[in-house]
Amino acid sequence: MSSNCAVILAAGQGTRMKSSKPKVLAEVLFKPMIDWVTDAAVAAGIDDICLVTGFKHELIEEHFDGRFRTVVQSELLGTGHAVMQAKDFIKEHTPGNVLVLNGDAPLIPEETIKAALDFHIAGNNAATVISAKVENPFGYGRIIRSKDGRLKRIVEEKEATATEKIVNEVNSGAYWFSSSVLLESLEGIVEKHDKKKDKAVEYYLTDAVEVILEKGLNAAAYDASSPEIVLGANDRVQLQQLNDIARRHVLRKNMLNGVSIPCADGVIISPDAHIKADTEILPGTIIKGRTVIGSDCSIGPNSLIEDSEIGDGVVLNSVQCYSAQVKNGAHMGPFVRVRPGSVIGENVKVGNFVEFKNSVIGSNTSVAHLTYIGDTDVGSGVNFGCGCATANYNGKDKSRTEVGDNAFIGCDTCLVAPVKVGNNAYTAAGSVITEDVPDNALAIARSKESIKKDWVNRKKPYRWQK
Ligand code: UD1
Ligand code: CA
Repeated sequence: MSSNCAVILAAGQGTRMKSSKPKVLAEVLFKPMIDWVTDAAVAAGIDDICLVTGFKHELIEEHFDGRFRTVVQSELLGTGHAVMQAKDFIKEHTPGNVLVLNGDAPLIPEETIKAALDFHIAGNNAATVISAKVENPFGYGRIIRSKDGRLKRIVEEKEATATEKIVNEVNSGAYWFSSSVLLESLEGIVEKHDKKKDKAVEYYLTDAVEVILEKGLNAAAYDASSPEIVLGANDRVQLQQLNDIARRHVLRKNMLNGVSIPCADGVIISPDAHIKADTEILPGTIIKGRTVIGSDCSIGPNSLIEDSEIGDGVVLNSVQCYSAQVKNGAHMGPFVRVRPGSVIGENVKVGNFVEFKNSVIGSNTSVAHLTYIGDTDVGSGVNFGCGCATANYNGKDKSRTEVGDNAFIGCDTCLVAPVKVGNNAYTAAGSVITEDVPDNALAIARSKESIKKDWVNRKKPYRWQK
């Protein structure tokens, strides 16, 4: 643990996103941009974080649910003004260093944060600006250095002269500051004026650099030598570009870890998913959230796995699986839906058009086709025939069904919950089971077949009476 802290700027609306949510909640690989930023800070060892919120701040507060401090910037008067709102927080962390990050620049890596801190400390800096050289610097603050390469100031697009505009080293919006120096320097920032309206409109955090240099203290730029770290998204087109970059990074990391992705078409993997070596991911597969997948699995094609735990040697072919567990050796699909709270046991076989909801399925059980199992505890070695259903909902309450080990559920059985089928018990095909079936018993719950001899000739069904 370090005594250092971070202030993350997240008050902007991001008008061009055309969203009802704050911009920092826009998602890259299904993860809000602000989570990328907070995760990078935490991974770099800084977990004492204050978020400066503004537009729809309650949505960000709700999202973090008290995990980090938040302060509200009620009027968006610029990045300098935003940091001023976190004054009390920064004061509590004096002496020490404060990391300032833009909440809408999700590709800042923890390694860069750490390396910049080392640079900051080694240079005895009061301010370290993390910079990068980009192809097109338009819109970014330019890093202006003196002839001997020392940082002089940061100039924004609006204020830059023609020669300054050519500079392609830009401010990432991430900085390390000495906490006490930052607090003093914020007071020294002069507001920019809107000449037309003749009023103060913005306080630039970037101006703190000049204030610091005027005090005779050290301020320097740390060139992160990766143009991606500065990237943010102002609209959905840029958001898609961030997704593209992040997606390629995550796929590459997984492949280097031993995961096979023979064709990356439509494959999206969450940065927080963990997949073991020798597993293959097939086209059209989306792995979301904190999913964990073991080794020797085949996932896809066309599968969606979210916040689930998948064991080793599992086959999921066209499976949708949400907040569920699938144990070693289970084979499922195609066209299977596993809903939250379900646990699919070892070596379970599941065939086409099967749905599970909040159910536990014992090992070696087979559910081969067209079956719905909801709110059910199924033992091991059970066989479900084709077209079975649990009737777990009576329109008012949900009830559970229990199926014992090695039971055999005949085709088209309806198990009306609450009901229990014992160990080794059988249900006859087409049965509607409303009463418990004891161990080793056969339950037949359908009307007996009756034959009407020569009925057709006697009745002459109407369609033949032409
Ligand atoms: C800022 C930097 C620029 C840098 C760029 C990198 C300044 C003046 N400029 O410019 O040098 O190259 O980031 O992306 O700092 N925010 C608030 N409150 C405000 C204004 C902004 O919280 O009053 C937040 C935004 O929500 C956003 C971040 O600060 O997360 C950056 O703000 P933005 O307006 O995008 O700054 P840029 O103009 O991009
Ligand atoms: Ca920006």
